[in-house]
Amino acid sequence: MVIILVGGQWGDEGKGKVIDYLASKAQMVIRTQGGNNAGHTVVTEHGEFKFQLMPSGILYPHCTCVIGNGVVVDPIVLLREISQLRERGIEPKKLFVSERAHMVMRYHPLFDQLEEESRGDDRLGTTWRGIGPAYSDKVRRIGFRIGDLQKEAFMRKKLAFVVGQVKNPVLTKLYGQDALDWESMLAEYMGYAKELDPFIKDTFPLIHDALDSGANILLEGAQATMLDLDFGTYPYVTSSNPTAGGALTGSGIPPTKVDLTIGVFKAYTSRVGYGPFPSELLDEIGDQIRERGHEFGTVTGRARRIGWFDAAVARYAVKVNGVGCAALMRLDILDDQPLVKICTGYNFRGKRFDYPLANISHYKHCEPAYESMAGWQQQIGTARCWDDLPQACRDYVERIGELIGAPIELIGTGPRRDQFVIRGRKLFD
Ligand code: GDP
Ligand code: IMO
Ligand code: MG
Repeated sequence: MVIILVGGQWGDEGKGKVIDYLASKAQMVIRTQGGNNAGHTVVTEHGEFKFQLMPSGILYPHCTCVIGNGVVVDPIVLLREISQLRERGIEPKKLFVSERAHMVMRYHPLFDQLEEESRGDDRLGTTWRGIGPAYSDKVRRIGFRIGDLQKEAFMRKKLAFVVGQVKNPVLTKLYGQDALDWESMLAEYMGYAKELDPFIKDTFPLIHDALDSGANILLEGAQATMLDLDFGTYPYVTSSNPTAGGALTGSGIPPTKVDLTIGVFKAYTSRVGYGPFPSELLDEIGDQIRERGHEFGTVTGRARRIGWFDAAVARYAVKVNGVGCAALMRLDILDDQPLVKICTGYNFRGKRFDYPLANISHYKHCEPAYESMAGWQQQIGTARCWDDLPQACRDYVERIGELIGAPIELIGTGPRRDQFVIRGRKLFD
């Protein structure tokens, strides 16, 4: 069985936790896009793990973990994650990186920062991890792929060209920075080549052998639908396609092999970085949720913006990704709210809109429409089945399911592995 898992809002929905739950019965987990702008948290009896490039199935020794061709890999970060795992007694024996995956090079985070600074008030609020510049170079066909690390002469020639003739003139003439020394970069990258060599592979046969043998395969999306380059709030998006289509091009799995797409949603909404956020709470309720939910970025530590659950956004995510089953995470964070609200759509120039608006300048003039429901004001962290949840809480979940057009089959009631309420079918059984 092949399952795609996508974020349904603006990221940090709890994808890592859902992958960890499903990976116990999967033979393979594949990261398909994004890079170390992602921060996926898994909490086990051994403590908390925050994965940036590492697929979230890595804690299961039976699970093959693949960093797919669609990911942009910063070798420095990957090596750091590997050594952090080793320090905690985990040897990533079944980790493979597609030789087709592009690299985030030393200069990409620098360009990310310089470009953001030059945008001034129009900056996007990127993670400064070099993601946009790395994907831009991939599209410009001046990117370096992980497999290039195994070809020193090729690296030498290409670094001389890309750094010497493309990057340095812009760095020095446009940004007034020092030129980069490509020869020392070559030595540096040859060092990474040696350390990463056991992990680099043509992952096409590996993935297709697994498909042919009927293995359970999970495609782990990073970021989310509203950060999608095409379907998100452009230009306030990331530079990849976190929607279901991106999972296919980012792994080489054909659409005909996919059995299910799971959409992961938070029981409210959060967003890091700038851009439209119609249901944003700029009041003390937003502050309360942020505090209770420790809503500070996994990657950058920035305070996340908080808002009510936006059913127009989630409905759109269900449609764009073909979500067959939804996970509603962090429901427990709303435990102490006397009243919970759901944004059901937007009113704009006298018309009702049930989906996000393509033209982001219209958000300034649109009015979100809300439905209010009674809160449950009870701790749900120990609930393990549907009937353990208070009635008002079940009503909230049911209403969200109705509004978004997908059944909510997984409910997060806390950060730990066991804090899950599962409804409906058993996936992977
Ligand atoms: P991801 O990027 O989608 O994987 O999500 P993050 O890891 O960035 O953020 C989700 C945060 O919520 C992490 O700190 C998780 O440990 C935590 N988390 C996941 N599910 C739940 C849940 O159901 N309840 C609570 N309280 N925390 C959760
Ligand atoms: P996970 O996988 C939340 C946001 C950044 C910024 C925008 C562009 O943990 O859900 P980028 O560095 O990608 O060019 O930044 O996208 N962003 C995320 N927000 N969760 C993420 O990943 C994100 N990855 C990028 O904050 O607004
Ligand atoms: Mg995250």
